[in-house]
Amino acid sequence: MTAREPGGPRYAPYANGRFALAMGLVALDPKDWIDADDRRAAELQEKERLLAANRKAVFDDLPGSEAAQREVLVILLENLERHHPGLVGVEDGTVTVRETGKSYGLADFSDHALDLAGRLVQEDFCLMRPGEEGYVLHAASLCFPARWKLAEKLGQPMMRIHERVSGYAERLGRPVDRFFEHLRADKPVQRLNWSLVDDPALFQTGGKFRTAEDAGITPENAGDRLWLRVERQTLRRLPESGDILFTIRTFVDPLSCLEARPDLAAALRASLDQMPEGMQLYKSLPPFRDALDRYLERVSSRAA
Ligand code: HEM
Repeated sequence: MTAREPGGPRYAPYANGRFALAMGLVALDPKDWIDADDRRAAELQEKERLLAANRKAVFDDLPGSEAAQREVLVILLENLERHHPGLVGVEDGTVTVRETGKSYGLADFSDHALDLAGRLVQEDFCLMRPGEEGYVLHAASLCFPARWKLAEKLGQPMMRIHERVSGYAERLGRPVDRFFEHLRADKPVQRLNWSLVDDPALFQTGGKFRTAEDAGITPENAGDRLWLRVERQTLRRLPESGDILFTIRTFVDPLSCLEARPDLAAALRASLDQMPEGMQLYKSLPPFRDALDRYLERVSSRAA
């Protein structure tokens, strides 16, 4: 298990100081598929709370996805046993999360195994199945959405899922669809995605395309009023069903974590400068764009 480092964020996809709308896929070693850190217990408890409050908002599936869901759970349990021994225990048809002591009967989840998979690790899981218009979201355990609603995406193909993402249809749609067709079970991949948000909650279903200025966020307090939200996403083909499994691991850190890394503050500022307006709007940056820029300018000037 990895401890959060005091010296800055774990992942900094803006570190090269450029912004490009790209697939950005790199090979993934199976031992690095699942990423557990010291927020694990708190995040698993948060998942339980969300599931108890409104399960359909964070777990949903379409008929016919049951076998592929079970395939995911088997792969996950094998991976945990091999690469993360000690996170969960499996005995007599029961899985127990070591840190929280919470136990689950495997039989209780036989038709919704993706729900159980999501309760065992910090990752969210989306199951994608080939359809007439490309891969379709068929089932998801999605406790930590980055400002989107599962109900609006379930049953939709990739192009439609991404329809409000600025530039996706023109730049990414076809390459992504082609990549999905050719993805091999033995060649999993990962990519990173980042945003800045004015709310640290992991579960957020709305808040894109905001424009009204937030006068409460200033260059002085931006470090504590804004958060870096990074998603580490992975993709792998499931060998039995042929479906694709998409995982999302979300990291939220106060923007002030960059005070330990003025170089990254400078890189983030440069990336934001290059980000097209449509993308800035999609990410709801306008309400605090000026305060953010002045804050990053001040922090990055310490690099010299
Ligand atoms: C290679 C694969 C993929 C690429 C390159 C990609 C790319 C992107 C990009 C660039 C964004 C905008 C995020 C931001 O910068 O804030 C986005 C958002 C999103 N992606 Fe993907 N994505 C991929 C796979 C998937 C998959 C498999 C799903 C399945 C659920 C998915 C669901 C979403 C959703 C729901 C959003 C938010 C859309 C909205 O705000 O309406 N993505 N994706």
